Amino acid sequence: MNTVTITDNRTGKSMECPIKQGVHGPDVIDCQALYKELGMFTFDPAFMTTASCSSKITFIDGDKGILLYRGYPIEQLAENSSYLEVCYLLLYGELPTQTEMEVFTTDIGQHTMLNEGLLRFYNGFRHNSHPMSMLVGVVGALSSYYYDAMDITNPEHRNRSSLRLIAKMPTIAANSHNYLVGRPYVYPRNDIGYVENFLQMMFSTPNRPYETTKIAVKALEIMLILHADHEQNASTSTVRLAGSSQAHPFSCVAGGIATLWGPAHGGANEAVIRMLQEIGDINNIPKYIERFKDKNDPTRLMGFGHRVYKNYDPRAKIIRNICHELLNELDTANQPLFKIAMELERIALEDDYFIKRKLYPNVDFYSGIILSALNIPLNMFTVLFAVGRSVGWVAQWMEMMNEENLRIGRPRQLYVGASKRDYIPVNKR
Ligand code: CMC
Repeated sequence: MNTVTITDNRTGKSMECPIKQGVHGPDVIDCQALYKELGMFTFDPAFMTTASCSSKITFIDGDKGILLYRGYPIEQLAENSSYLEVCYLLLYGELPTQTEMEVFTTDIGQHTMLNEGLLRFYNGFRHNSHPMSMLVGVVGALSSYYYDAMDITNPEHRNRSSLRLIAKMPTIAANSHNYLVGRPYVYPRNDIGYVENFLQMMFSTPNRPYETTKIAVKALEIMLILHADHEQNASTSTVRLAGSSQAHPFSCVAGGIATLWGPAHGGANEAVIRMLQEIGDINNIPKYIERFKDKNDPTRLMGFGHRVYKNYDPRAKIIRNICHELLNELDTANQPLFKIAMELERIALEDDYFIKRKLYPNVDFYSGIILSALNIPLNMFTVLFAVGRSVGWVAQWMEMMNEENLRIGRPRQLYVGASKRDYIPVNKR
């Protein structure tokens, strides 16, 4: 067995930590016995070098720009697969046969509607709520409606809850939008695809059916596929940590949605459009480029750069093509916002500052533009991310629940507060 020796130089005491190898990616040092052997914890704020679990679902190599779902390169899935097929793959580990896919699609279709009682929840939200806050609330409330699958120790219940979540997310999302704009809720349709159904729930009204285009559906489908999972990111880690206490998956996912809402996580696509709106005119771009490069100016070129993907974001490469295709077909190329986006992309890709720092457009640069071109309101952008990511959350939750020894997650800390002291009565302080 390969090991790493850890020695406490103060005492000379040492221990051997096994080195564990995965299929891809860096090896890990198994230091679970550290506290028992040496009486110490590891210190790794923000989990920058900590593998919090082992997983068979998604693999990322940030240096090489690789993203695999269950071993399949994201490029191949985006090119050939559908969002629902990717859901099946992430949940069950293999691509479905034709029959399995038909059964899965029917199962999802059976769960797209919401209990009518749940619809009344929406009226309680303020008229100008952010739809992400509505999503957190309504998804959390699902557990009070679907009592028939509350036993998380029962694999069949776990599966049913997962299917329900994937099926209901588009309905919950579209309802939030319709409530905020004062339109009636539109019921889901099972005779059309997952993406078409979402668009019709968002945009059709009782007096006007919504007609979509092939390219719009393709763009949204690809966006959902690209956002379906991204291994142990903040929201997924939240779902896993909540799930480790054996909470119901709907509550765990509500926690994941709350985490995704943060601007450092799911909010970047919205920030891209706000930036484009602020730039306002193609003639202002040079001035803004100088600001983005200025160390004394905190303004950054939103949608560029990535914490993990240092050479390129493989998702951006895919979504860029469909974004350009969509803009050409929708004839939006001459609209100011998209003109600015395309010009920014051109300049930044040729500018030394961005090239030297390997700052390429990330997935959010293009997903923001796509959603905007599809007339999805800005406050719904992160909601769309959440719809796509719902399968990742439940797939990771299911994987964790299938582990033999599920233990509650309990990080430790380095305490740096006041040392032990005695209470002083208020009149003596
Ligand atoms: N515009 C201008 N300069 C930048 C940018 C940017 N977008 N990103 C990084 N830099 C510079 C940064 O100032 C630093 O310069 P120097 O070496 O001279 O000090 C250098 O590039 C390295 O930056 P960093 O901050 O160390 O990189 P990071 O890995 O910590 O940050 C990031 C990654 C994504 C937070 C950052 O690139 C950023 O803020 N980008 C804009 C926001 C954005 O698009 N976020 C969405 C990311 S994708 C989300 C997802 O995958 O879910």
